[in-house]
Amino acid sequence: MRTVGRMAAETLHAVGSILRPGMTTDEINDFVHRDTLRMGARPAPLNYLGFPKSVCTSINQVVCHGIPGSQKLVDGDRSSFVRRARKLQDGAAMALKAIDGKDAAALFHAIESIDRACESCHLRYWYPNDQRARQAAKDQGLVD
Ligand code: HEC
Repeated sequence: MRTVGRMAAETLHAVGSILRPGMTTDEINDFVHRDTLRMGARPAPLNYLGFPKSVCTSINQVVCHGIPGSQKLVDGDRSSFVRRARKLQDGAAMALKAIDGKDAAALFHAIESIDRACESCHLRYWYPNDQRARQAAKDQGLVD
């Protein structure tokens, strides 16, 4: 256990140092696979109850045991994701307050904030390369 624990820690450390924006989770998988074999071990997740890859990678909305694939890592991931999620929270809180106060103008304002929060996050994390969506969001005044 001690030996393989040390091997796993070494691979974890090594893979951490190669992560970069634009890299796919498949590339992470390939690295972990090769590094595990290099040490004379075999990747435990591979074929475990049919799991198809050598490592689990979970991005953003994937809770756990994500399967590596073509999804790419995005720059500034965690903190900017959380910031965008908070904007949505703020918009929802504003909407609830407007409903309690029966304030129609404030409610429309809150809805706009919510729309902006949804779109700003999607443009960055869901469809970052979709120029048409970006232009449409600009035309609607949802992003700068
Ligand atoms: C903090 C980031 C963030 C915010 C805020 C956000 N989303 Fe998303 N949303 C995502 C990501 C990332 C995906 C892509 C999920 C995927 O790849 O499976 C997504 C996907 C979706 C999808 C598609 C789901 C599917 O199964 O394909 C819908 C619909 C959606 N969002 C609606 C909304 C709406 C409506 C709001 C605002 C009320 C919102 N989202 C706010 C990050 C966000």
